[in-house]
Amino acid sequence: MVVRPARAADIDAIADLEAESFPQDPWPAGYLTEAVAGLLHSVVVLVAEDAGVVVGHAIASVVYEIAELQRIAVTRQQRRRGLAGALLSAVREDARGKGAERLLLEVRETNAGALAFYERAGFVEIDRRSRYYRDGTTAIILQLSL
Ligand SMILES: CC(C)(COP(=O)(O)OP(=O)(O)OC[C@H]1O[C@@H](n2cnc3c(N)ncnc32)[C@H](O)[C@@H]1OP(=O)(O)O)[C@@H](O)C(=O)NCCC(=O)NCCS
Repeated sequence: MVVRPARAADIDAIADLEAESFPQDPWPAGYLTEAVAGLLHSVVVLVAEDAGVVVGHAIASVVYEIAELQRIAVTRQQRRRGLAGALLSAVREDARGKGAERLLLEVRETNAGALAFYERAGFVEIDRRSRYYRDGTTAIILQLSL
């Protein structure tokens, strides 16, 4: 398995993974295309590739000292094998290299698996935004010091 920057040829696989992992609000393929092409300022798209197949992706942005993890997802069949951990390590390294001091993210309070993953990675809760998502779910804001 390798983690590397996404290429144009990965966009369909990333879009499929978005649809599987975030059925309520997947990133549209057009937006992904722009991000992968480097047209969205400060946004980086990484993929985890296993035997030539994209099995996970992470999207992050860095603006001065604050990095934001906008997406992280792994295909259902490949979960609990450390792939998200590897993607997160690459995001942390990239963000630190660009001078970020902390990594922030929003997660649905109902997403127990992701919350467990983030807690294990050392994120701490710093805020909550009630009814943040369109379906009324509360967002938990997590932070990791870099
Ligand atoms: C959250 C997600 C990215 C984790 O990916 P993953 O590759 O399975 O994570 P890892 O294998 O690196 O997990 C590392 C550790 O995190 C914890 N963890 C990960 N998923 C967990 C789960 N569903 N339940 C409990 N703990 C979990 C465990 O401690 C795990 O270590 P272990 O397997 O040795 O017990 C994956 O479940 C996913 O794609 N979910 C759908 C998309 C999503 O919700 N993304 C986050 C949106 S904010």
